[in-house]
Amino acid sequence: MTRALREAPLRTESSETLDPKNWDDIRALGHRMLDDMIDYAANIRDRPVWQPIPDDVRARFRAGVPRRPSDLGDVYREFADFIVPYATGNVHPGFMGWVHGGGTPVGMLAEMLAAGLNANLGGRDHIPIEVERQIVEWTRQMFGFPDGASGIFVTGTSMANLMAVLVARTTALGRAVRQRGLGSDGELLTAYASTAAHGCITKAMDIAGFGSDALRCIGVDRSHRIDIEALRARIAQDRSAGLKPFLVVGSAGTVDIGAIDDLAALSALCRDEGLWFHVDGAFGALGILSSALAPRLAGIENADSIALDFHKWGQVPYDAGFLMVRDGERHRDTFAASAAYLRRETRGLAAGSSWPCDLGPDLSRGFRALKTWFTLKTYGTEKLGAVITRTCALAGYLEARILAEPRLELMAPVQLNIVCFRYRAADANQVNGSIVIDIQESGIAAPSTTLLDGQLAIRAAIVNHRTDTGDLDALVAAVLRFGAARTRAA
Ligand SMILES: Cc1ncc(COP(=O)(O)O)c(C=O)c1O
Repeated sequence: MTRALREAPLRTESSETLDPKNWDDIRALGHRMLDDMIDYAANIRDRPVWQPIPDDVRARFRAGVPRRPSDLGDVYREFADFIVPYATGNVHPGFMGWVHGGGTPVGMLAEMLAAGLNANLGGRDHIPIEVERQIVEWTRQMFGFPDGASGIFVTGTSMANLMAVLVARTTALGRAVRQRGLGSDGELLTAYASTAAHGCITKAMDIAGFGSDALRCIGVDRSHRIDIEALRARIAQDRSAGLKPFLVVGSAGTVDIGAIDDLAALSALCRDEGLWFHVDGAFGALGILSSALAPRLAGIENADSIALDFHKWGQVPYDAGFLMVRDGERHRDTFAASAAYLRRETRGLAAGSSWPCDLGPDLSRGFRALKTWFTLKTYGTEKLGAVITRTCALAGYLEARILAEPRLELMAPVQLNIVCFRYRAADANQVNGSIVIDIQESGIAAPSTTLLDGQLAIRAAIVNHRTDTGDLDALVAAVLRFGAARTRAA
């Protein structure tokens, strides 16, 4: 041991710990923080959706390591003045970019409680793990999965999709792949998804060691649903070339336009072909809670695995991704690893195996389950399902506004909660790209963009439970105003 360590103070008086000297002071400040954040959500419409970050504000976050203590009140003021105003904006009902959930005050409070408990959900025998197991059980029931299914919270669907690829790999090659690597057998494995599937699936194939070329991107129909016959033909072609198809990824809600693949047909094909059937249900899978949408997910109950995010349509604050695997043994086979320091017991704190660390790469894990548990219990699945239905009805409202406006053009059929459209203009890609940035910078709304057949579309994904028709009217008015200004300027 070094001299500096031998001579370090041993006392644990309050001056030596990180706890406050005066608990009443932190209580008062904590109450103020809570009030401020409740006001933030309650009065969110008074703020711009998003605003550009001034250079001097950005520069503050490039300062050096804080070696000396600061007063908590001062640090909080810095948060209030320089972090809160420049957040992403997805709490705001005018946020419609990408696929961002709005969060709820209930989820926020639960997150605070989880931080207070500071539980580590990698393993061991404590009730926070039972809370996560309860959500696994609820999710199993929602999707009609059998007993023995397993599930785990992860950051998001990108991670859940990667883990599903790994479970499918272990199933195809056997557990030995974990010691020996993919080897020559692994080089022959091929996976399939549509051209409309999310880019994180390509990335998952890359990270898992197959290389992204091993993912065959199959064409889609007009509604962006995978072409089942083209898929069947490609599988046959690969088999006759000596390759070994092992995985099909279906999309329950494509990121661009919200298309749902024919999951029943995909599950039948996978059964016939002996392939792992994974569903990327990042946002769409929770459509199962909506009585209007659930029938469109028929077939999802036959999946071998489903990836989804409670932080999108489920409105749980970030992050709350989730992976569910039909056969929990396959899941454990992929990730469980023994270590002397993680020995399992039948009594005491090390009881309760299997542990979540047996189901994924993480050992230390936070209590994501608590905010999801509070959200599900407080609102109930019927209300959450009604919110999901309403976001789709709002997309229908926006679609009708666009169809009624000759200066606007609908770019894709509206199937779920996503509307792709554009302002008609000579140089439409350039003009619409600028319109979206103008709107974001105005603070009125925050749509994003995508490319559909090379055409840039303004993309409004209505995910936030606070969004209303007035927010969509404001979006349309802003597109027309900035569109007119941009085309006049040209
Ligand atoms: C269809 C789809 N898959 C995967 C993802 C990635 O999910 P995450 O951002 O939670 O990693 C998204 C994100 O929007 C998505 O829409």
